[in-house]
Amino acid sequence: MMSSAIGAIKEAYTTLTGETAKAADLAKDTVDLGNPPRKGITTDHGVYVSDTDNWCVVHYVNPFYIRMYALRLKAADGNGTGPSLVEDQIAREKIMRFDHERIPERVVHARGAGAHGYFKVYDNRASKYTYAPVLTDPSRITPTFVRFSTVQSSRGGADTVRDVRGFATKFYTEEGNWDIVGNNIPVFFIQDAIKFPDVVHAVKPEPHNEVPQGQSAHNNFWDFAALTPETAHMVTWIMSDRAIPRSFRMMQGFGVNTFTLVNSQGKRFFVKFHWIPELGVHSLLWDEALKINGQDPDFHRKDLEEAITTGAYPKWLFGIQIIPEEKENDFEFDILDATKLWPENLVPVEIIGEMVLNRTVSEFFSEVEQVAFCTSNVVPGIGFSDDPLLQGRNFSYFDTQITRLGVNWQEIPINRPVCPVLNHHRDGQKRHKITKGVNYWPNRFEQTGPVSAKEGGYVEYPQKVAGVKQRVRGAKFQEHFKQAQMFFNSVSDIERAHLVSAYSFELSHCDDPIVYESYTKLLQSVDFDLAKQVAINVGGAVPEKAIHPNPGHKATRISQFEFAPKEPTIKSRRIAILVADGFNLDEVMAMRTLLKAGSATTWIIGPRRGPVYPAGEEVGKGIGYSADHHWEGQRSTLFDALIIPGGAKHAQALADSGRCVHWVREAFGHCKTIGALGEGVVFLREAVKLPSVRLAADLNSDDVTSSYGVVTAGQYDLGSAAADILSIKEGQKGFVSNFAHELSQHRCFRREIEGLTAKVSY
Ligand code: HEM
Repeated sequence: MMSSAIGAIKEAYTTLTGETAKAADLAKDTVDLGNPPRKGITTDHGVYVSDTDNWCVVHYVNPFYIRMYALRLKAADGNGTGPSLVEDQIAREKIMRFDHERIPERVVHARGAGAHGYFKVYDNRASKYTYAPVLTDPSRITPTFVRFSTVQSSRGGADTVRDVRGFATKFYTEEGNWDIVGNNIPVFFIQDAIKFPDVVHAVKPEPHNEVPQGQSAHNNFWDFAALTPETAHMVTWIMSDRAIPRSFRMMQGFGVNTFTLVNSQGKRFFVKFHWIPELGVHSLLWDEALKINGQDPDFHRKDLEEAITTGAYPKWLFGIQIIPEEKENDFEFDILDATKLWPENLVPVEIIGEMVLNRTVSEFFSEVEQVAFCTSNVVPGIGFSDDPLLQGRNFSYFDTQITRLGVNWQEIPINRPVCPVLNHHRDGQKRHKITKGVNYWPNRFEQTGPVSAKEGGYVEYPQKVAGVKQRVRGAKFQEHFKQAQMFFNSVSDIERAHLVSAYSFELSHCDDPIVYESYTKLLQSVDFDLAKQVAINVGGAVPEKAIHPNPGHKATRISQFEFAPKEPTIKSRRIAILVADGFNLDEVMAMRTLLKAGSATTWIIGPRRGPVYPAGEEVGKGIGYSADHHWEGQRSTLFDALIIPGGAKHAQALADSGRCVHWVREAFGHCKTIGALGEGVVFLREAVKLPSVRLAADLNSDDVTSSYGVVTAGQYDLGSAAADILSIKEGQKGFVSNFAHELSQHRCFRREIEGLTAKVSY
């Protein structure tokens, strides 16, 4: 109780100041160029530089000047150019430093974005399972750094590709760094780490032409997948909307591998780690994702930054799934097989804490590029299992950091622990630390020796091991389709329809019939109807009957619709308000105020950036209202919802603009919430042209009509706005409340299910 109160005080302090033990540690290495003001630029060896723009050259000048300024290298008349001098150490240093700015990008997960935050547990309930204070001491605020990433593309790839997203968290605990190097999908492609180079080579751009970038839609990936049935389950997740998240902030995170926890009585438990986003799990639509790849390739990176800088701090609940050691063999799947999840109806997730990201990085390279995670970074009370994928990962991460960052990678500021680090490891490139004393153990001074378990030293769990050394996989590792079927059966109809489209898109990008025919054959082992539909779409092998009939088994908390936030929210949602000269300013002001109260952001999109003139103001002369972007500068894809206010002239100008009509149709096609008022409703009716969508008919009434996620009213005067206390639930009277309720649902999929979106061109 007492420790929870201490935790709450520490959290309040962190929230207020952004301070954590890690922030203080990084401050030692942070140079703020403006604070305090500096005298000026120096070389790397600290000498002030007087000229940063001119390389020292031998300057040919008129003989008069040579006589006058004998032996000066440069003269003032500016005639003629001579050879540059290698002796210019300042120019040489500048160029040489630049030549070596790049380091190898990560072999996978090269593109990413990161942020700082903190982690806390609610109480000590996890002490049943572990003695790790980070998981049991509620008085602690543990600093964290998270890096989100895509897997396939290089560093310059786009954010919204179809791919698994990395979700790697470094906990700077008082007992050392603990890393959960997870993904936003709970399972993996392969069971054994030895196959990792194969799956990565297959999915990466093909070796002969380095195509495609940021895509799995190519022959080599689907060839490998068809020949490696253990990938079937993961591929169903990758083909689902989980692989095109709306935001990093709206993704689940999973440790994927099975780890272990040990409690103070020495009892061991198998564990899986979970992150559950406060805002729910939401995705883009495929058409939207494809367009954003070109329109704003940094969409997710910017979204993370925008949320933190506007105070909508991303938050995840932290949960654990626990299986006591003696129940290891109680399941029909092997709990150490990373291609299988532990269904939550069999092993519930216990929520024990949360993480908040509240600070953006100051310099991308030093923090996001140089952060280096390692599955083998665990702290006392947390251990590994015999999961064969995890065992390989534990070797691979440390090893790959040596290529990328050098052997002393753990000394780099973003990676170094906040607790003391002291050992006899020495030397190597870029060693920072200067250690006085001997560098071996045992030594006559008894310096830096081992620490007993009682005093906090890490000890391995005394696991009994017996067997025959051979290259085999366990019997339960041989079954590959039951959980792929379970996933297919457990998602909603709309998610299933998107699965069919995704498989069809990907396989239709494979031009080798051996590949798409083989994969459509493999799909018969997942679901007959799925296989048939995809095969018809892509010209594959249309099946006669199922190979492994799908018995229809399901699990809970597979569909992303099962992760709705506790209270409906519009926090951090981006709303575009489309205007032309002559729009109704009172409506816009009232709506913006209310939507801001719900922590959404609103953006005025006008015919030009800068002043747009509301009704009653003369264009170019009157008092304008500032637009954030012009119609061509942004697209509906970059927003969660769209509003068209009233105003006769403005509505006519929108109707006369093909781009504005497209804005509305595209938002409708992507099932986004659309709001319109007054003459804006007339424009909307013309733009969408679907009689089945009911719109407000009486322009003199403030009655709200809500139909297929389209919210309209004839009027929204000050009286209606005053009565519209933002309340996000169904059946409210006010326009903004209704709009916010629809928006909190993320999208209106009924439009797609009932075929309305297929009737609109966008
Ligand atoms: C459960 C399956 C796996 C998951 C969830 C996973 C997750 C991740 C994540 C999130 C990153 C990016 C880390 C960052 O943001 O810096 C990463 C990088 C990497 N992973 Fe994995 N991975 C998995 C399997 C493997 C396997 C089996 C291997 C090798 C045997 C491997 C090797 C690597 C390597 C070499 C990197 C690049 C690390 C760096 O340069 O910083 N991964 N992985």
